[in-house]
Amino acid sequence: MNSDAQTPLLRVEGLESGYAGLRVLAGIDLHVNRGETVAVVGGNGAGKTTLIRTITGMIKATAGAVSFGGVPLVGLSTDRICEYGLAQVPEGRQIFASQPVMLMLDEPSLGLAPIVVEQMFRTVAMLASEGMSILLVEQNVAESLRLCQRAYVMENGTIALSGDAKDLLSDDRVRQAYLGL
Ligand SMILES: Nc1ncnc2c1ncn2[C@@H]1O[C@H](COP(=O)(O)OP(=O)(O)O)[C@@H](O)[C@H]1O
Ligand SMILES: [Mg+2]
Repeated sequence: MNSDAQTPLLRVEGLESGYAGLRVLAGIDLHVNRGETVAVVGGNGAGKTTLIRTITGMIKATAGAVSFGGVPLVGLSTDRICEYGLAQVPEGRQIFASQPVMLMLDEPSLGLAPIVVEQMFRTVAMLASEGMSILLVEQNVAESLRLCQRAYVMENGTIALSGDAKDLLSDDRVRQAYLGL
């Protein structure tokens, strides 16, 4: 594994994938540096789950590249990818981390009562403060942007906006589309 501090831990370039006859992801570029907490936010159907499943090899990439610690992942099995320490927490499941190198959380707040959502975000913040690298996929845009350092806004299978989470939190487009302001 490449431990060069300058190389992103997870790098996704031009990633495309979908389902029989339906292209969902259309050229996704994103990265997560070591120890960074990064959000992917977006509405229902934007392609967030498809993105995570393509990174972990559950859905076949039709174009593009994914690397983790410098290792190319496209074409590897989901089990193999998990062995490299890239752990996926599926939609609607509780965080259960067994010493992964990086956690990808797919809508951990989905279906939880508000008080449990708060606890969940605190757990993610604690893992982040311990230096865990995290990709947090959420529809809970405000909370996620407050928690993360950087974020990507996903719309229609593309990255519509990206940048510093604090900047996105005050961005008019984000405020109108996702924060109801
Ligand atoms: N198993 C599937 N078969 C066909 N289409 C799917 C499947 N899962 C998701 N889709 C479609 O892919 C698009 C993106 O879905 P998804 O990745 O689940 O979005 P999100 O997680 O952002 O809500 C949607 O149009 C959805 O209807
Ligand atoms: Mg989803």
